Amino acid sequence: MTTHTEGIAPHGGHLVQRIASDAERQEFLAQAEQLPRVPLDERAFSDLVMIAIGGFSPLIGFLEQSDYEPVVTEMRLANGLPWAIPVTLSVSEEIAAPLQEGSWVRLDDSTGRFVGVLELTQKYRYNKAHEVTNVYRTDETKHPGVKVVYDQGAINLAGPVWLLERDPHPLFPKYQIDPAASRHLFVERGWQTVVGFQTRNPIHRAHEYIQKCALETVDGLFLHPLVGATKSDDIPADVRMRCYEIMMAHYFPQDRVILAINPSAMRYAGPREAIFHALVRKNYGCTHFIVGRDHAGVGDYYGTYDAQHIFDEFAPGELGILPMKFEHAFYCKRTGQMATTKTSPSGPEDRLHLSGTKVREMLRRGELPPPEFSRPEVAAELAKAMHQ
Ligand code: ADX
Repeated sequence: MTTHTEGIAPHGGHLVQRIASDAERQEFLAQAEQLPRVPLDERAFSDLVMIAIGGFSPLIGFLEQSDYEPVVTEMRLANGLPWAIPVTLSVSEEIAAPLQEGSWVRLDDSTGRFVGVLELTQKYRYNKAHEVTNVYRTDETKHPGVKVVYDQGAINLAGPVWLLERDPHPLFPKYQIDPAASRHLFVERGWQTVVGFQTRNPIHRAHEYIQKCALETVDGLFLHPLVGATKSDDIPADVRMRCYEIMMAHYFPQDRVILAINPSAMRYAGPREAIFHALVRKNYGCTHFIVGRDHAGVGDYYGTYDAQHIFDEFAPGELGILPMKFEHAFYCKRTGQMATTKTSPSGPEDRLHLSGTKVREMLRRGELPPPEFSRPEVAAELAKAMHQ
């Protein structure tokens, strides 16, 4: 672990660093053939990476039962620190059975590559229904986050981890800015206040509006699209990143905005995930975090502003990052600009709401989303991607 030297304190006070040193890597590699192997799926691998780079500080590994239980029921780690999503390595009984508590386990990615080590301190059985009803507020397997839990193994493997090596991202190396680096950048730019923006969708005008409204009141904007596992009908990360590059080139001031990738997987846990997303951005050095309509939601599982209300369940200062809450934004024909019901007197007939689903339908029919919804260059990029 290294102590933070700059910017706001990471969650728990220290920026976790679990990337093996050269000496540790040599030691792990020397033992690679003897260690029992556990394969990681895409999500577990991204969790390993997030732990290793400090994005999930204060976690240094996959949760033990003493942390897992209060995270599920109370949104807190055993020491009382807020934490909203259980970060677990769940494997089948067959995989878990031969593994000895107190031993080291080799972690392989989905291609069989040796990527990390787990010091297995504990194996435990957990209650899936209990987890999903608390974390996702539903046990319907139609919910993509719930489905993942029901599809995964019945045993959690817990303990500290090491990532063997921090490889550059295969698609977005330029935007791989890990927490230590983003913190450094913010300080270098003299930003005292930085607002983080989470997204898993192509950027549209409502996103741009709330990003810029937020930026008006702070020093910098950290655009942080999630590029880890998403559900199959979400737009792929490479297309979304190209849209962001277009926005950076044409619509954002370079000296006030940083674009970087968030390697995590989506959980679609709505309110719980909003807290989680905020804490992760705090670790990247953000002082503020944008929470708009139905943040990290899916279908109609969550109320439009549930992900905002959940922040009130914590005492002021407990989270250490401030939510910036935005109402549902739309293009207002009456005032000729983006607005919300807070800022425009328009009636429903004057409001242009377009959802991601509607846009995908339009693109499929060969129509471009109008400029009130998407910047034309972004619409063109989406249309191109649709027909590739
Ligand atoms: S999310 O799953 O990452 O939350 P999305 O990329 O659509 O999905 O949203 C990113 C952020 O923008 C979230 O904080 C969300 O609440 C907010 N947001 C998206 N669309 C709107 C909108 N029309 N009005 C206000 N906030 C919005």
